[in-house]
Amino acid sequence: MKEYYDLRASEYDEWWHAATRERPGWANELDEAMAVVAALPPARTLDVACGTGYLTERLRGDVVGLDQSARMLGEARTRLPQTTFVRGDALALPFPDGAFGRVFTSYFYCHLLEEERARFLGEARRVAPELVVLGSRQGEGEERDRWEERRLSDGSTWPVFKRVFAPDALALELGGDVLHAGRWFVCVRA
Ligand SMILES: C[S@@+](CC[C@H](N)C(=O)[O-])C[C@H]1O[C@@H](n2cnc3c(N)ncnc32)[C@H](O)[C@@H]1O
Repeated sequence: MKEYYDLRASEYDEWWHAATRERPGWANELDEAMAVVAALPPARTLDVACGTGYLTERLRGDVVGLDQSARMLGEARTRLPQTTFVRGDALALPFPDGAFGRVFTSYFYCHLLEEERARFLGEARRVAPELVVLGSRQGEGEERDRWEERRLSDGSTWPVFKRVFAPDALALELGGDVLHAGRWFVCVRA
């Protein structure tokens, strides 16, 4: 996953908008999901696996972005020059206990295998009392967990593990409440 996202950094944001062409209602629901994120009360927030900062930009309060990819962080720093970005591993967060009021993470939890999920949840709970997770909604008859073959514009292909979520199941898994459940996105606060 590390090299794949590093190589994908410059083309990553296209994904947020390209899906509009194939997915009915995507653009409107993307606006709704972004509004849910923007409506979170201001807090000292760590955006884990922040990527290009697409979501970091919506978060209110004192926000720090963390990602392991130098190229992703380069994009994020260009987008948000005033925000602090840190290169680090989400499974071993380089912050002391209770350093934040909230951990936010978008389209990262969905890529973790079971043992990684346990490590990430342990780390998130260690550094903040609240966790907000955004990911893809499971469609009718759609397989929940799968390995996908992803292709980049240079033609290279990469195996990527991906989970999609039923809102109540994700809320139960994280011990939280559903903030948004649409056709395409799920957001849970725990
Ligand atoms: C699908 S992107 C999501 C980016 C952003 N949160 C968004 O929603 O637009 C996944 C991100 O996770 C980062 N990542 C993957 N494994 C990581 C790890 N162990 N620690 C920190 N970042 C990681 C990748 O570099 C990539 O930027």
